[in-house]
Amino acid sequence: MGIGAPASSANVGETVSLLSEAAPVAAVDGDASTSPASAAPASNKQSSAETAPVPTTAAGPSTAVEYDPAPIQPPIQPESDFDESDSAYGEPDHLSDTTSIPSTIWRHRYENGRRYHKFREGEYWGPNDEVQNDQLDIAHHMFLILLDNKLHLAPIENPQRILDLGCGTGIWCIDMADEHPGAETIGVDLSPIQPSFTPPNCKFEIDDVTSSWTFPYAFDLINIRALYGSIADWPALYQQVFDNLQPGGYLHEVEMSIQFKSDDGTLTPDHILSQWSDVFHEASNRFGKSFYEVWNLSTYAKNVGFVDVVENVYKVPVNGWPADPRMKEIGRWNFLHCTQGAEGWGLFLLTKVMGWSVEEAQVFIAKFRNGLKERKVHAYFEVVQFSARKPMY
Ligand SMILES: C[S@@+](CC[C@H](N)C(=O)[O-])C[C@H]1O[C@@H](n2cnc3c(N)ncnc32)[C@H](O)[C@@H]1O
Repeated sequence: MGIGAPASSANVGETVSLLSEAAPVAAVDGDASTSPASAAPASNKQSSAETAPVPTTAAGPSTAVEYDPAPIQPPIQPESDFDESDSAYGEPDHLSDTTSIPSTIWRHRYENGRRYHKFREGEYWGPNDEVQNDQLDIAHHMFLILLDNKLHLAPIENPQRILDLGCGTGIWCIDMADEHPGAETIGVDLSPIQPSFTPPNCKFEIDDVTSSWTFPYAFDLINIRALYGSIADWPALYQQVFDNLQPGGYLHEVEMSIQFKSDDGTLTPDHILSQWSDVFHEASNRFGKSFYEVWNLSTYAKNVGFVDVVENVYKVPVNGWPADPRMKEIGRWNFLHCTQGAEGWGLFLLTKVMGWSVEEAQVFIAKFRNGLKERKVHAYFEVVQFSARKPMY
């Protein structure tokens, strides 16, 4: 455990897989041509109890007097007074009566058919269910293509201690641990959504990265990816990053802007993608964790003392509209990414922060998904990547 109060943290390595069955996940609506088939949620799977063949008793063979079928179990009844806001739903069985203090770490919150983190409830707007986790893994692949198949661009040869803040499904940490078998990689997140089978040099902790850190050693590389709209006080976070790096160690960050743009005027201000940007910038301001901050991050890093700050801004098309094969490929992945992510990005902020009805939110999200398909609109958003070094002295 490296961050925050002892009662609120846990190493999830061995037990988190028990949680994965508990999640009722809303289906991604609509158009099969736009929904990534490979990323289809597994939540509609029937349990083995439901699919197992049941011996028939009504028409058994008349001569089979020795046939003694097992008694048919009565149907499993759903909980009649189930309240989807009840956080106790889905609490994993592995917690005993004596583990009540850290149990909120393992719980989830359900709202409008989506699953959200319970620990530090309401701090983060995104769901943590399979639909959204698939989106994170799609984004991971997109970022890899964007960075020429590299997990980071920090000029560090052989990091020994690596930390990933807001690690999500842990996919970056696992790849990093595989790539650096001699290093130890730690991922920290609010949600216990990381797999239990990981490389031995990779571990996960559930905690809030904005709490005070208590790691017993300093890191060589601290990574942040897609914490956009999640941090109220970036300078304070960077101060902790700075304080917990070895001299000469690196911060590496990749963040998305949510401002859709076009260079040729094909994206008009009244287009649904432009409206999306406006609405979610407003929502993030009201939420107190602005999406605009992406443009200030490298300055904040310099202000806390980082040097050799090298920043790149990439354009990421929203579908396969570019002629360039590489950009077309990135655009296609981004189309999957946005289509898969849209409902989860939208629901909480539109309903809880902007005060829209669920129906209004769903209509807006559906229009957004349709807007993403328009190839004659040459829309993109920008991804900001930077690395920054802690001075030796
Ligand atoms: C958009 S996801 C990105 C996940 C991962 N970095 C990636 O690139 O695949 C943001 C993640 O940050 C986590 N997060 C948000 N605020 C956090 C906080 N204060 N402490 C820890 N994790 C946080 C969320 O739970 C979520 O998993």
